[in-house]
Amino acid sequence: MDKNTLESLKAALAVTPDNSELFMVVVKACRDLDEYEDAYQLIKEKTFELENPDDQHLAGEICIGVEDFELALAICRADTAACQLVKARALLGLDRKDDGLACYRKAIAGNPALEDKNLESRLTGRITERSVSTSDSNVKLKVISNDDTDQTEITRLVMPEDEKITFTDVGGLENIKKQIHKKIILPFKKPSLFQRFKKKAGGGILLYGPPGCGKTLLARATAGECQARFFNVVISDILDMYIGESERKLHAIFDNARQDTPSVVFFDEIEAIGGKRQYTREGTSSKIVSQFLSEMDGFANKNTGVLILGATNVPWAIDPAFRRPGRFDRVLFVPPPDHEARERILEIHLEGRPADDDIDLKFFSKQSSGYSGADIFNLIETASDFAIEASLEKGEEIPLNKEFIVNAIKEVKPTTIDWLTTARNYARYANESGQYNDVLDFLKKFGKN
Ligand SMILES: Nc1ncnc2c1ncn2[C@@H]1O[C@H](COP(=O)(O)OP(=O)(O)O)[C@@H](O)[C@H]1O
Ligand SMILES: [Mg+2]
Repeated sequence: MDKNTLESLKAALAVTPDNSELFMVVVKACRDLDEYEDAYQLIKEKTFELENPDDQHLAGEICIGVEDFELALAICRADTAACQLVKARALLGLDRKDDGLACYRKAIAGNPALEDKNLESRLTGRITERSVSTSDSNVKLKVISNDDTDQTEITRLVMPEDEKITFTDVGGLENIKKQIHKKIILPFKKPSLFQRFKKKAGGGILLYGPPGCGKTLLARATAGECQARFFNVVISDILDMYIGESERKLHAIFDNARQDTPSVVFFDEIEAIGGKRQYTREGTSSKIVSQFLSEMDGFANKNTGVLILGATNVPWAIDPAFRRPGRFDRVLFVPPPDHEARERILEIHLEGRPADDDIDLKFFSKQSSGYSGADIFNLIETASDFAIEASLEKGEEIPLNKEFIVNAIKEVKPTTIDWLTTARNYARYANESGQYNDVLDFLKKFGKN
């Protein structure tokens, strides 16, 4: 429509202001020609109610554009998802965030394609207070957060994780779960029985295997199963350029764990501390290694109810001193998931997402040979991206289906093969005291030897 036609329509509307159909034609034309102010004036002065939800939505959006939130709210009375979203934005403008959030939730429940994270975080943004205890004092930190990134930052180093996960969240690895149950969880749950037989609870367990196969997940689940506090230590957070700082931080972490038993202290990617000299950078001195070892030995002497778990993708880079009795004396191989495990992992990661009922998990588990758990997660994420794209295109929710997963398999490549190739060489030529026997067994079983 050009401006002249619009002018004549406006003139016609002036004569018959109650003509609601003509009214909407003019409002739309104004919007299309970027005459928002005119459109708004018309809406403001109209003498009748808009009944059609699509009309309400359109008029509401124009009001929001000129920040007349009251009017937008008055106009959008319908229950459609689109109207709820306009209401949510209007309520945000009026600083009624809780009401706005309720409308926003209704909107995306009605049509997930309307999701707007930016709007959501502005509606949920509030001030939270967390107390964080460090080695020397109890500090209260005030955090203004719109999402939980800040919280994770603060909790990462010293706070135990809150969210409990258990073995059911970990697909496959039945054998390892059994061993962990016997060697870790039972001694934790029935300490006096073990004491009578002079068996110690606690000590160190090292998990190794290809990346993305569930070491970190298993460690967290172990803590969940023991109902122990879980301290997740990211080693790069401890390493500090100032002399003595790294050791102090490390000591603080062990101290924290001691005061809060039963607890599990998990050192992820432990090679960053316990690496053989050829693998460590100049800066990570042997001081931190000896600090670590003496903390561990301290635990071995006392039966403290603290379990130390370590995980690494590069077991051959770990200093043998870490494996002496009383330190990481139990070493478990976390293999890539087998056929059944992959099926379960697919199921775990599909859970809670809109998906067709007829997705054949057995078929896809066969198709994903060589995939790690993380690869499978990636696969489902990629398939979900496709479903979201399709949903946005169609303007309605399209659930995950076979086709999306087939297409995702073309994009996501398996990542465990390289690791197994490297591990095979170590297992063949540097298998001191049979430490890689589990890897050899695995390779024998799955025909890669
Ligand atoms: N056995 C598994 N069951 C379910 N999910 C898994 C499994 N293994 C890996 N994943 C998925 O991959 C992600 C990364 O796994 P992670 O435990 O961090 O691997 P690793 O520590 O061995 O490198 C997990 O957060 C999870 O989403
Ligand atoms: Mg990990």
